[in-house]
Amino acid sequence: MLIKMTKASDIKSSEITPKAIFDDRRQFLKTAAFSGLGFAAGSIAPSSFANEGRGKKLIGIEPSKWTQKSVGEKLTDYESVTSYNNFYEFGTGKQDPLTYSKDFSPKPWTVVVDGEVENPGTYSYEDLVNPHTLEDRVYRFRCVEAWSMVVPWVGIGLADMCKRFGPKNDAKYVAFETLHDPDRMYGQRSRVLEWPYREGLRMDEVMNPLSFMAVGLYGEELPNQNGAPIRLVTPWKYGFKSIKSIVRISFTKTQPPTSWNMSGPREYGFYSNVNPEKSHPRWSQAKERRIGEFLKRPSLMYNGYGEEVASMYVGMDLNKFY
Ligand code: MTE
Repeated sequence: MLIKMTKASDIKSSEITPKAIFDDRRQFLKTAAFSGLGFAAGSIAPSSFANEGRGKKLIGIEPSKWTQKSVGEKLTDYESVTSYNNFYEFGTGKQDPLTYSKDFSPKPWTVVVDGEVENPGTYSYEDLVNPHTLEDRVYRFRCVEAWSMVVPWVGIGLADMCKRFGPKNDAKYVAFETLHDPDRMYGQRSRVLEWPYREGLRMDEVMNPLSFMAVGLYGEELPNQNGAPIRLVTPWKYGFKSIKSIVRISFTKTQPPTSWNMSGPREYGFYSNVNPEKSHPRWSQAKERRIGEFLKRPSLMYNGYGEEVASMYVGMDLNKFY
């Protein structure tokens, strides 16, 4: 995202919109038709996705109220969701994650849970995921770079997962870390960020019903480039909070350091809630380009999820706690 050489205002729309879609009118129409299908159906039934021949299908997915809430939003097409990515562990170009994560094997996978919890340990992916019913949730996804998508995630409420670890009263924050393995993640051989990628949430944010651990999208296992096998999704925050390929979840007494804040503290705060009124120091956040659309649209406070999250920030100066 965020290497300081290019201003967002310098980015051509053809670079923001995937070239195939930008250039190809037929592809655009196909996208629109597909998206319209989800809308006309009234809900997003995973079995209705035209997804044959891609990742492994996930079974036993329940629609959730977040799916229903999002009816009316056109889904971003699968190809864009999985080929226009930010995942610096596999390179800084938008298509690098797709290209360079092809050989990455996300299983077997373990996640260390430590800090202020009753049940610390090393959990296998299956330990983490199998006790839960998978949910289908369509969320808007707003990147700090001022583009956005609408993604049908599959996964588990973060609160449900974290409750199983037994957070102690002292646990005020949760820190997340991505795998650090330069042999498997070639982008980590370059020092664009201090590895591992780190993120964090305040405990009330962790427990907010919107916070989600995604293990899939479009009814299938998460592709490598989207953060396989398990990644965070916090749809009211800028996309960089949604840390991918998580290997550590630490319950802490104090606010943990986070990668982009460490890299550019004036530009990226800990909270990073979508706020169209607060410009990034180098570009406005008032509007966004929905991938697959030509015209920009106004961005929404908390990415449109104020009803669910605004109460967590009452009394906080959003200019200070950005
Ligand atoms: N997680 C890790 N580990 N590394 C990254 O570079 N990029 C972030 C976030 N999570 C990133 C990450 C950014 S900037 C965005 S916008 C989203 O992932 C992009 O998610 P997507 O590629 O699934 O759209």
